Amino acid sequence: MQYYPQHLDAAAQTALLGAIREIIAAAPLYTPAMPRSGKPMSVRMTNAGPLGWVTDKEHGYRYQATHPVTGRPWPTIPPLLLDLWDGVSGYPHPPEACLINYYAGDAKMGLHQDRDEEDFAAPVLSVSLGDTGVFRVGGKSRKDPTQKFELKSGDVFVLDGDDRLAFHGIDRILPGTSNLLPEGGRFNLTLRRVTSRIYLNS
Ligand code: SIN
Ligand code: MN
Repeated sequence: MQYYPQHLDAAAQTALLGAIREIIAAAPLYTPAMPRSGKPMSVRMTNAGPLGWVTDKEHGYRYQATHPVTGRPWPTIPPLLLDLWDGVSGYPHPPEACLINYYAGDAKMGLHQDRDEEDFAAPVLSVSLGDTGVFRVGGKSRKDPTQKFELKSGDVFVLDGDDRLAFHGIDRILPGTSNLLPEGGRFNLTLRRVTSRIYLNS
């Protein structure tokens, strides 16, 4: 894994936040539901890119090209994020999905693996904006010991190589730790490559 504290300066964070607000205006945050139980998640989500990660009671975790509420294609991934991927990921093809999570108040995310992609050779790159998130990351087994990182606004974190399938989650958000979002809370953006490029001629 790679941790880049304060990789985005204040101006870059503000510019990225503006781009995220535009995405949300076209593709509103919605409340996803867990597979089978239909239990609502505490984070709200939307996506940018040709594919977006979604989950609902009936069809579970998956990627799809359209917003589940509006039915429209996802907005495009902001150039700032594509440049960040080029600079940091070490992967020669662009990301196809940018999942946008918004954590208000006491939202959190349980330990899980990102494993709905075809290509685990590509890293998962995450950017934090707003209040600090207490991020927990372990190993490839749920039982492995975990480490904690306090992800601050502007921090970039990469799960790659042997850690690509590491269990990770957000224990809680620390309120009042950033002035970036007037409404408080935290955005986390994760860039993922979804489809495999190991086929011939592609
Ligand atoms: C995620 O695993 O989708 C989000 C992690 C985070 O919010 O930092
Ligand atoms: Mn994840």
